[in-house]
Amino acid sequence: MTPNDVRTDVQADVRADTPTVTGALAHAVAAAGLAPSIHNTQPWRWRMTGDSLDLDLEPSRLLRVVDPDTRLATLSCGAALHHARVSLAAQGWRATVTRIPDPAHPEHLAHLRVDGPAPAPVDALTVRRAHTIGIRHTDRRPLTGPPIGPAELDTIVTAVEAEGASLHILRPDQVTDLATSASHAHRTEPHEARRQAELAHWTGRDPGHYGDLPVGDGPDRSATFAILYGHADQPLDWLHAGEALSAAWLTATETGVGVLPLSATIEMTSTRQAMRVLLSGVGYPHLVLRLGTIGPDDTDPPHAPRLPTDQIIDSS
Ligand SMILES: Cc1cc2nc3c(=O)[nH]c(=O)nc-3n(C[C@H](O)[C@H](O)[C@H](O)COP(=O)(O)O)c2cc1C
Repeated sequence: MTPNDVRTDVQADVRADTPTVTGALAHAVAAAGLAPSIHNTQPWRWRMTGDSLDLDLEPSRLLRVVDPDTRLATLSCGAALHHARVSLAAQGWRATVTRIPDPAHPEHLAHLRVDGPAPAPVDALTVRRAHTIGIRHTDRRPLTGPPIGPAELDTIVTAVEAEGASLHILRPDQVTDLATSASHAHRTEPHEARRQAELAHWTGRDPGHYGDLPVGDGPDRSATFAILYGHADQPLDWLHAGEALSAAWLTATETGVGVLPLSATIEMTSTRQAMRVLLSGVGYPHLVLRLGTIGPDDTDPPHAPRLPTDQIIDSS
C-alpha cells in the first residue's frame, strides 16, 4: 500500500451555499484537498481558528530526496490555497490572504481571514470556477486532439499572469534541448537511485523517468510545452506559482485543454539551470507543463485518491 491508497470524499460538493463562516471555511478546505500536488503527496495542513485558516507544509508528506528545498511541495500548497480562495468566493465570502506571514517560519505558508460577505451577488464565472475544481484532473493520455489555438493559450497565459507569475511557451527545438539535458541529468545525478526509490514509494509503481519531457516525434506531436516561471526563487514565489498553476489549470479545463505537469526538469538542479538560460535570465523556472487536447472519443481517467478532509485540518 502506498501513502496515497486512501479513497475519500473526492467529489465533495465544493459549491454548497454555506451561511456560516465556519461552514464556508470547512468547504474551502474540502475544495483545497482536491488540488493537484507533486506525486499526489498532498503536503498541506490547515488550521481553522474562528474566521481564519492557516496553511502549513505537512512535514510527514514532503519528498526529502526529490524535493529537498520543498519548492514543489510549496507550489502544490499554492494550488490548494487558490482552490480555497475560489471556493470561498463562490460561496459569497470575501477574504484577505497574507502569504508567508512570518519569514522566520517559511513552512507557515499563508494566513487567510474571512472579512465578511461579498458586497455583490456571486457571478456565474466564479460559480463555474468552483465547480471546475471537482472536474479538473491530470491528463497523462496521449494527445489525440488538435493543437491548442492562440485564443485558448491567451486565456491560460492571462490566468497565470493574474496570479503574479508568467508562462513561457517553448519552441519545438527548445523542448528537444531540454529533454536531452534532462536525459543526461538522469544518467549523471548522484542521487538518482534514491530519487527513483522515493518516487516508487509515493506513486506505488516503478516510475521510470516519470515527469520527463518526451524526446522525438511521439504521440505528443500536437502538444504545447510551457515553463511556468516567476521573478525570484523563494518560497513566496513558489506559493504564487502554485496559485497561478491552479488558475491556469481551472481555466484550461474550462476551455477543453488538458494539463500535465512535468516536474523532473525542475527536480534536477542542472536542468533548472538549463531552463534559466532558456528564459534568457528574465525569470526562475517553477514547473514545465504539457498542454493539449484529447479526441472526443476518450473518456476521462478516474480521479486520483485524496486524504479524508479530517486528516488535513485541525480545528480549535
Ligand atoms: C508541482 C506538481 C508536479 C507534478 N509533477 C508531475 C509529473 O512530473 N508527472 C505527472 O504525471 N504528474 C505530475 N503532477 C500531477 C500529480 O501527480 C497530480 O496532481 C496528483 O496525482 C493528483 O491527481 P489529479 O491532478 O488528477 O487530481 C504534478 C503536480 C504538481 C502540483
